[in-house]
Amino acid sequence: MEEIRRPDDMARITTPELAEAFIAEQIKLIKEQVGDKKVLLALSGGVDSSVVAALLIKAIGDQLTCVHVNHGLLRKGEPEQVIEVFRNQMKANLIYVDATDRFLDKLAGVTDPEEKRKIIGGEFIEVFAEEARKLDGVEFLAQGTIWPDILESEAGIKAHHNAGGLPEDLKFELVEPVRILFKDEVRVVGVQLGLPEGMVYRQPFPGPGLGVRCPGAITRDRLEAVRESDAILREEFAKNGLAGKVWQYFTVVPDFRSTGITDGKRTFAWPCIIRAINTTDVMEVTVEHLEPQLIDHLVKRITTEVPGINRVLFDYTPKPPATVEYE
Ligand code: XMP
Repeated sequence: MEEIRRPDDMARITTPELAEAFIAEQIKLIKEQVGDKKVLLALSGGVDSSVVAALLIKAIGDQLTCVHVNHGLLRKGEPEQVIEVFRNQMKANLIYVDATDRFLDKLAGVTDPEEKRKIIGGEFIEVFAEEARKLDGVEFLAQGTIWPDILESEAGIKAHHNAGGLPEDLKFELVEPVRILFKDEVRVVGVQLGLPEGMVYRQPFPGPGLGVRCPGAITRDRLEAVRESDAILREEFAKNGLAGKVWQYFTVVPDFRSTGITDGKRTFAWPCIIRAINTTDVMEVTVEHLEPQLIDHLVKRITTEVPGINRVLFDYTPKPPATVEYE
């Protein structure tokens, strides 16, 4: 198949009208490409795969099967939102796989960050391939490849996350309906397709998920402390008008304990680190300085509501010298 490229003179999609025209055009192209055949999509709940899912549901309805793999490292409420939006509201064919135990068992005791990433990536492909093999007659694989992925892979910056990695017996033709779009355009199209704003304008979230925010060997209790503290941080950012303003914000719970006191009793528990950053290109990052009252409130909530936390720290380090994530 001929490589589809973004036309040099293509207008940036910034309005509902332009989004609507793009959607109509893609629906036509998807129907032409796929005919009456079946399409498979790994639906993470991220912006790109969600927009691809919504487009394909509109174009080919139940010829699409979405697989949502919960690796146990998602944020609080994420799998539930994917099920609510795609299965309940959009009536998609959605296979939900709770693979939490598989992932966490494989990760048990693994401390090396690269090794952790490899296990998470490898296991993801494994679970997805198992689900794909259970289905009959699927000929196409849909992907949320976007234009910067193509440009970056051509420039040798990174290999874009395409079918690369799927086992030999699974050979699919690719369907990539947003491959000529920039990220901001994908969001405009997503809103036009009726996806919730919270899903379309959400902050970046790494593939290995909370796994890289639970440094060292992941344990279920510390992972839960990351998830709960992250949920509190997101809730407070939303309440205080920071959710759409700050580029990325999250919590990290490192693997060491310190002494504290609660209700007159000694505690020996983890600290929770808050990271809130702004950037345009992620190469350089500055720190968002929070209001002292908000920090006080976060400290109070996190130390009282999250089991295993007795201190809250704030990461004031820009990138460089620190990266955004801890692993
Ligand atoms: P770093 O830590 O490299 O992060 O300064 C830069 C941005 O990339 C995100 N990130 C990832 N995204 N898979 C992803 O999809 C990954 O493995 C990954 N690692 C980092 C990070 O959240 C930040 O926005």
